[in-house]
Amino acid sequence: MSTPYILVLFYSRNGSTSEMARQIARGVEMGGMEARLRTVPAISTECEAVAPSIPDTGALYATLDDLKNCAGLALGSPTRFGNMAAPLKYFLDGTSNLWLTGALVGKPASVFTSTASLHGGQETTLMSMLLPLLHHGMLVTGLPYSEAALIETRGGGTPYGASHHAGADGKRPLDPHETTLCRALGQRLAKTALLLEPSRG
Ligand SMILES: Cc1cc2nc3c(=O)[nH]c(=O)nc-3n(C[C@H](O)[C@H](O)[C@H](O)COP(=O)(O)O)c2cc1C
Repeated sequence: MSTPYILVLFYSRNGSTSEMARQIARGVEMGGMEARLRTVPAISTECEAVAPSIPDTGALYATLDDLKNCAGLALGSPTRFGNMAAPLKYFLDGTSNLWLTGALVGKPASVFTSTASLHGGQETTLMSMLLPLLHHGMLVTGLPYSEAALIETRGGGTPYGASHHAGADGKRPLDPHETTLCRALGQRLAKTALLLEPSRG
């Protein structure tokens, strides 16, 4: 059996969500677990369009086995009209077999997002990502207000999951509060997974 890992599964077009994923992965490692960073291919309106099986840069594409065998999941997407991005939804729509077999039941999960505008749908996007995870029977781990950055932030950060305000040009880097909350989320997920792993079944 392979070492238990947290799957950090995300889609990102311009890099903000992928930087959040890296910070969450650092938090996972700070929490004592291995992080596996995986992305999903872009989708097109052309039926059966085929992307190269290995992306030119960045994280590898996730397989259903990556998801099936994880000890926990951090799921991230840029906001698209207050919702998760289609490529991530498309990947999740292909997980029926995992749902039928209960492969994810009882595993901890967290969500994260990046938006252009501060009030442009961070919470709704996070909630949209939680819905399929709840159908899969996953246990949601958000961010508690014992994290001071949740109160102090002038950018992203919500109790529902980590978030980032990228600005209109998408270039605003993660600020210290956003970074702290990404790491806290990863760490909390790892610690929860370690507590749950022996008893899951
Ligand atoms: C089709 C589309 C819809 C978007 N909808 C929203 C939105 O509802 N609210 C918002 O604040 N930003 C919206 N954005 C901006 C992205 O969420 C934002 O630029 C994000 O930081 C991109 O993340 P990435 O760098 O990981 O790709 C939208 C972008 C696109 C292309």
